Parts: sequence; structure tokens; C-alpha cells
Amino acid sequence: MPDNVQVSILPHHVAIVMDGNGRWAKQKNKPRTFGHQAGSRLLHEIVEESKNQGIHVLTVFAFSSENWKRPQQESSFLMGLFIKVMQREINELHSNHIQVRFIGDRSVLSKTLQQVIADAEKLTAGNHKMVLQVALSYSGQWDIATAARCVAEKVSGGELAVADVDEQHFAAELSFADLPDVDFFIRTGGELRISNFILWQAAYAELYFSDVLWPDFSVVEYRKALEEFAHRQRRFGRTGEQVLAS
Ligand code: FPP
Repeated sequence: MPDNVQVSILPHHVAIVMDGNGRWAKQKNKPRTFGHQAGSRLLHEIVEESKNQGIHVLTVFAFSSENWKRPQQESSFLMGLFIKVMQREINELHSNHIQVRFIGDRSVLSKTLQQVIADAEKLTAGNHKMVLQVALSYSGQWDIATAARCVAEKVSGGELAVADVDEQHFAAELSFADLPDVDFFIRTGGELRISNFILWQAAYAELYFSDVLWPDFSVVEYRKALEEFAHRQRRFGRTGEQVLAS
């Protein structure tokens, strides 16, 4: 790469699909739940590294709308794990000035989990070092459909004219409309797909796929990914020459 190519140094917003927990456990002849536990321990390290690197927003895909199709025992285990992990980590997150937020359809979560989420969000609402956003019962299509409903309600209530429905008005109704769009989308575990994670807000994200299974995806691997991001030329529809001239 020539020296004068504009590089984006650090992404503002990193989104991660933490895939591969089940396969990692299977390789060790352990139940899939063992992999999820190991995955949650790695997440602790990745959050810390993100904060130390100066990332503004880290969004992790903890449970998709489609993950409800998993065996009931695994879904229940994961819900219990989210409660335990939040209870275990929340004070440290707070003392590190990290704001914790959740995105997704929380109406389908247990009352206990809804309470844990509400408490975590309330406790950390004033923190500004970094936002840790957990996608739980979330899918990009759910987010877009929910926003479409809000726009339709505004139109039918006379608050918004049909002619004014554009990208900006629509995006304002999506989850995390107050945060920057995703710059860097990482998926571990070897699959080359987006799996209905962030869609609209990842329209111009740089994609990074790693074969490493999530529990083995270390801080070293994360730094490697961030290093690659720093060498991507982001053109946002312009030509490379225009980017260099700007
Ligand atoms: C995907 O791997 C992983 C999940 C569905 C769960 C991820 C959850 C954690 C890492 C815990 C995080 C905790 C909090 C509080 C956010 P998979 O099971 O699909 O793996 P496979 O593709 O190998 O089967």
C-alpha cells in the first residue's frame, strides 16, 4: 500500500459477531454451554482492550432474534448467563466509566433479565468513556421493521409528511440513532455472513472475518483486526483519487 493513502486509524464503532462457542466446546468434548462461558470471559478482555484503545462504541451480538430457535435448554442457559455476567461485571464496568446499553426486543425477555438490563443501563447512563452495547434478541430486520412502524405512526398522526420520509428521518427511528454508525464489523468463527446483525447502520462498515473460534479470539487477534482496519481506505462512494485529494 502506498504511504500516502488515507487510512482511518481507529474505528469509532466496532460490532462483533462472537461466533464459534459451540464448536470450540465440541472440539474439547464439552457441552456447548462450556463454550458460551469461555466466550463470556473473553468478552471481558475485549471490552477492556476496546476501552484502552479508545474505541467509542463496542456492540456485541449476544443473542439474535433467530437464536430463539435453538434448543430451549441452550436458550435458557444463555439467558441465565447474561444475568450472571451482568451481575458479575457491572460494578467494574461502571468504575471504568463504561456506559452499558442493550438493543433488541426486550419484551420477550424474562422479568429478571429485563430488570438486570434496566438497572445496568440506569447505573451507567452518565458514563462517557465508552459505550458497550449488547444486542440481545436483536436482528437488523427487526430494527428496520420497528423503525418503519414508528415512521408510519408519525405519518398517520400528521407529525411527518410522506414526502419527508428520507434516510435521515428513517434512521432517526432506529436503535442507537444517537451513536455513530458501525465502522468495523468483525465476525469470528469462520462463517462469511452477517446473519441479520446490524444492517442499516453497518451500510459502510469495513468487514473482517476471522477463522478463529470466539473463545480463542484473543486480544492479540483483536489488535490484528484493528491494525487491518487502519489500513483500509474508506471511500464512501467516492473514488480513491477524490479521497486522496480531500
Ligand atoms: C455464537 O456461537 C454465540 C452465542 C449465540 C452466544 C454469545 C454469548 C456470549 C459470548 C456471552 C456474552 C455475555 C454477555 C453478558 C453479553 P455459537 O453458539 O453459534 O457457536 P457455533 O457456531 O460454534 O455453534
